[in-house]
Amino acid sequence: MLGLPLIIKPVHEGSSIGMTKVNNLDELPAAYATAVQCGDAVMAERWITGREFTIVIIDDEAYPVIRLEPADITNFYDFEAKYNRNDTSYYIPCGLSAADEKHLQDLSLAAFRAVDAKGWGRIDAMQDEAGNFWLLEINTVPGMTSHSLVPMAAKARGMDFDALCWHILAQTLE
Ligand SMILES: Nc1ncnc2c1ncn2[C@@H]1O[C@H](COP(=O)(O)OP(=O)(O)O)[C@@H](O)[C@H]1O
Ligand SMILES: [Mg+2]
Repeated sequence: MLGLPLIIKPVHEGSSIGMTKVNNLDELPAAYATAVQCGDAVMAERWITGREFTIVIIDDEAYPVIRLEPADITNFYDFEAKYNRNDTSYYIPCGLSAADEKHLQDLSLAAFRAVDAKGWGRIDAMQDEAGNFWLLEINTVPGMTSHSLVPMAAKARGMDFDALCWHILAQTLE
């Protein structure tokens, strides 16, 4: 049972495109119509109220977890927040206890391996109000601009952008 609210997403998209939060059943048809414009496959997920995290994986190793805090917490980390506004806050250290951060890193690594992903990637996750972690997706080609999340996590490990690029390339060549 998903219950309400829920979120409707296109299966084949990214950048929060085509997603709608559905608060009551009347909103469902329009949310479906929006998502289906991106392709036939549409999915529904339980709405998670809580904090949002992202976990970078390179060479079978999970990097320091980043917590993201979009300014508009009534909505979600949408396209505008990702690319057009500058009002999302990022936290490293992420504020989780050491045990919770390790647990989230382990979950992310397990998911990465389960889909047979290789080399590097980034996993988006949330923690609900009861403290449970939910993995949202695996990005197999995450953003790599100088202000993207992968360089941010690498920097927390003392790895600058050039070193990061070489490290990723080395995985790919093996
Ligand atoms: N089940 C959910 N409950 C609450 N918010 C969600 C949920 N799924 C996604 N979101 C929000 O939507 C954003 C984008 O979702 P995500 O699944 O990461 O797809 P993508 O980043 O590929 O567009 C997330 O960063 C999060 O803010
Ligand atoms: Mg995402």
